[in-house]
Amino acid sequence: MRHLLEIDDLTSDELHRVLELSAAVDLPRVLDGLGGVLLFEKPSARTRASMEMAVVQLGGHPVTLRNEEVGIDTREGAEDLGRLFSGYGAVIGARVFEHHKIERLAAGSTVPVVNLLSDEAHPVQALADLMTMQQAFGALEGVSVAYVGDANNVARSLGVACGLVGVEFRVSTPPGYGFDETSLDRLRGAGAEVVLADGPEAAVDGADVVYTDAWYSMGQEAERIERTEAFARWQVDDTLMSRASERAIFLHCLPAHRGDEATDDVLDGPRSRIWPQARNRMHTARGLLAWLVDEGLR
Ligand code: CP
Ligand code: NVA
Repeated sequence: MRHLLEIDDLTSDELHRVLELSAAVDLPRVLDGLGGVLLFEKPSARTRASMEMAVVQLGGHPVTLRNEEVGIDTREGAEDLGRLFSGYGAVIGARVFEHHKIERLAAGSTVPVVNLLSDEAHPVQALADLMTMQQAFGALEGVSVAYVGDANNVARSLGVACGLVGVEFRVSTPPGYGFDETSLDRLRGAGAEVVLADGPEAAVDGADVVYTDAWYSMGQEAERIERTEAFARWQVDDTLMSRASERAIFLHCLPAHRGDEATDDVLDGPRSRIWPQARNRMHTARGLLAWLVDEGLR
């Protein structure tokens, strides 16, 4: 059974194929009469809406559940939920806090499981990020990405995805907020040429994509004040953007904390591609599901 728990669960060829399917306008209705069970342990706007729409566009019916109703590991173990939902859906998606929960859900499942964000990874976001870069530059070859901010779930999946498609990945984080060795190994294992830049300016110099995310993620709200102080120098503003390449675009997975990790001028400015990027969440969700329940099972 094929799952997508981190983006390198796809080979480079498979990832390119998913991107190709994501751009196709008339995919076969591979979920005709079937369900897609989507479980959320954390809030979501883009992921829930885009996954539900993708299931519908493939002919299926989304069944979305919040964890208040389901109780992963409190009302019922993650493995048993995998066994249960396999009986209702041809695919399962889940957004969880601890990554082991999605691994255990997948262990119990007899249908493909998609990680809709865990504390470690956000692979469905990385798909939309790559698609947006492809649209901006025509191809991924020769593109360089500078990630500035917290080395979080979004950053890790983005870095691993860049490795798989041969895109240079530079990163600059405040001291203490960088990737751990396990994540660095994962990035390098995927083929990423990771450049640990000396400061945000060095990361952004000449880069084609400037990417940032919230300084505190869901579940880290209690660290807001200390993180806001630690990350102040890593804010993406027009001055930092001016160091990027002439064709540079700005990306953010959203939701943004406006005025923290990026200024309004950048989020709403001419280089920003945040809204096409958000819309690409639906197209890549459709491409991914089409691949997982059809080609990925052959
Ligand atoms: N980018 C993203 O995953 O957004 P949501 O948290 O709104 O789903
Ligand atoms: N890093 C953020 C991403 C939200 C889509 C979080 O985990 O909250």
